Amino acid sequence: MNLSVTNPWTDPASLEQRIKELLAQMTLAEKIGQMCQANVGDSYVHDYLADGVRSGAVGSVLNIVDVDVVNQLQKIAVEESRLGIPLIVGRDVIHGFKTVMPIPLGQAATWNRDLVRDGAHVAALEASTAGVNWTFAPMIDISRDPRWGRIAESLGEDPLLAGEIGAAMVEGYQGDDMSAIGTIAACAKHFAGYGASESGRDYATTNIPENEMRNVYLRPFKAAVDAGVATLMTSFSDIDGVPATGNEFLLRQVLRDEWAFDGFVVSDWDSIRQLQIHGLTATDRESAFEAANAGVDMEMHGDAYLNHLESLIADGKVDAALVDKAVGNILRIKLRLGLFERPYTDPATLPPIASEHALATARRAALQSVVMLTNEHHVLPLQQKQLDSIAVIGPLADAPYEQLGTWIFDGDAQFSVTPLQAINTLVGDDLEVRYLQAMETSRSRDTEGFDEAVAAAAESDAVILFLGEESILSGEAHSRADINLPGAQAELVRRIRSAGKPVVAVIQAGRPLTLANIVDEVDAILFAWHPGTMGGPAIADLLFGIASPSGKLPVTFPKMVGQVPIYYNQKNTGKPPSPDTIAHIDDIDANAPQLSLGMTAFHLDAGYTPLFPFGHGLSYAAFDYENLRLSSHELRMGESITVSVDLTNTSDMAANEVVQLYVRDLVGNVTRPVKDLKGFQRVYLEPEERITVSFELHTDDLAFYGRKMQLITEPGEFHVWVGGSSEAELMSEFRIIQSE
Ligand code: NOJ
Repeated sequence: MNLSVTNPWTDPASLEQRIKELLAQMTLAEKIGQMCQANVGDSYVHDYLADGVRSGAVGSVLNIVDVDVVNQLQKIAVEESRLGIPLIVGRDVIHGFKTVMPIPLGQAATWNRDLVRDGAHVAALEASTAGVNWTFAPMIDISRDPRWGRIAESLGEDPLLAGEIGAAMVEGYQGDDMSAIGTIAACAKHFAGYGASESGRDYATTNIPENEMRNVYLRPFKAAVDAGVATLMTSFSDIDGVPATGNEFLLRQVLRDEWAFDGFVVSDWDSIRQLQIHGLTATDRESAFEAANAGVDMEMHGDAYLNHLESLIADGKVDAALVDKAVGNILRIKLRLGLFERPYTDPATLPPIASEHALATARRAALQSVVMLTNEHHVLPLQQKQLDSIAVIGPLADAPYEQLGTWIFDGDAQFSVTPLQAINTLVGDDLEVRYLQAMETSRSRDTEGFDEAVAAAAESDAVILFLGEESILSGEAHSRADINLPGAQAELVRRIRSAGKPVVAVIQAGRPLTLANIVDEVDAILFAWHPGTMGGPAIADLLFGIASPSGKLPVTFPKMVGQVPIYYNQKNTGKPPSPDTIAHIDDIDANAPQLSLGMTAFHLDAGYTPLFPFGHGLSYAAFDYENLRLSSHELRMGESITVSVDLTNTSDMAANEVVQLYVRDLVGNVTRPVKDLKGFQRVYLEPEERITVSFELHTDDLAFYGRKMQLITEPGEFHVWVGGSSEAELMSEFRIIQSE
């Protein structure tokens, strides 16, 4: 299928000229109209909406996925409005349209840029069939708090990983040329800091000092801007007293002045009017004033701009030039999207929904997203030939909708293949499969079905328990304070354990869970996030060793919720803990002086280490890392070194490994993290194969924002590690020397 078209706007000068010409023709009301986005939500065109589009009072719509309605609205915009400016049509296509990829956090666990790019492209192709030309994704809020329901939508805790995976999503949605058929504009959100909501409560206040904001939370957004993201969305949250939607520092100083972003910024849903609820403004008019002056180009679902911008300009409160700038930003993206030349959608020009390619991509993504957390005595992979029967038990073994996860407005569960279905297909008649749901939902506290489940387990040679969270337990406004397995699931695990058979837990969830209470009760854990449409076949292939697990955690798993926030790239503190300086609450000697407790940064009941660290993920293969070497142990500013390691697959199974490079800058103008991911590569090794993996490390890669909030690389000593997780042990050192 040839999806490319000729884009007349590749020359920046003619693009800017066209924008100028359009602006010159527009009335103020028409300009403000471009800055207003209307929610549609229904599958027909209301008269007031048609009137709004016709009069030029609506520049964008969202939540409409009926292609006929979209075409009808575009026709009104193009043929009946005075200037014929087409609509930009937004939708939350977060991890797939009808064919659903793993939740974004699961996609981050693949550490596979190409695969993530492919997944976003599939989503763009499918969404395009409905006339959608703009998605509100990727969400690249750094998330260090698994209580936050939206961690599911995030790409985890690390700025480099989130930036690179987010950039790959942008490339997948937008392609090389946004005007091509089947590409859509992306939206990096939520700018900025939303992931730091206090106690993981959605929409709660965030407290992020500027240095932390720049060195952690803004980094993925810079990567998205560098990847050419068309739009950004503000965050709902309050940052240091100024909610993001009215935050001039973020929207003007950082985004426009420092990063030279030339796309447009949309508010979050009604978040301009919410400035009043935050207590920043007293009226909608003041809210419109704050948002417009801060740099919000388009208002999503709200009428503060519509009702007040004109009078704010008349009163000299908002500069008319500022409105021209905002409208110019919006028109620039509409032009780049090719909407003026091709406003209508013909689904016949696009591949069908849930195509073979789409399903294959979803399956690969699910396969690579699964993280094997434990595998005692190599219970996995299951040896089909050595088993006569297995018990498949649990509320998420055969739940086609739940495996899709949060934020799937359009995701179609009829395409889902569940783990139970896939296991049955895979084992055929060779193996008896006893299936018991045991619990109605993951939250159920009713243990009535447990006796039968235990009996089935006792009769079988092995048990696969499908546990976790239903999709409704994560996502926007679905935060949890307790992140244990919900309901009676831990009790189910204990009861099944008593049957004395090997037990494998497959956990589908929208966040890291605290698994300390079950980790020793099962022989292996596959953490599958919400794996999407093709989660079933992916999980079945992994269980039976058709492929090896290769996902790695994009976020730290705490032992208990009180450790949160816990993340690998912490600061050292003045009193760093070590195994010798910590004590456990159970070991406190009533007669010993208090100082015996170590006086370092740890919890008496949890120590300081997580249950599973960032970057962790086991394989059926065994990988040996050796010979870490640097091309030089000294480099000057502007130079690079090559960091290499030899990697051998010492097993008889081919597998992928994610090789990770971490650095510590020992002394900084501001304190630096104890480890910071600087590179990663997903590599494939045949049995017994040995390869060399190399990374280029440039002094720019070691830059950070110092006390003066300027990006600097400082001379000094660095430690470098390469390995299969953030606990990599192979270490070396280098120094940057001052150029003369
Ligand atoms: C609110 C969410 O915060 C945002 O991420 C989403 O894109 C909009 N609603 C539109 O649905």
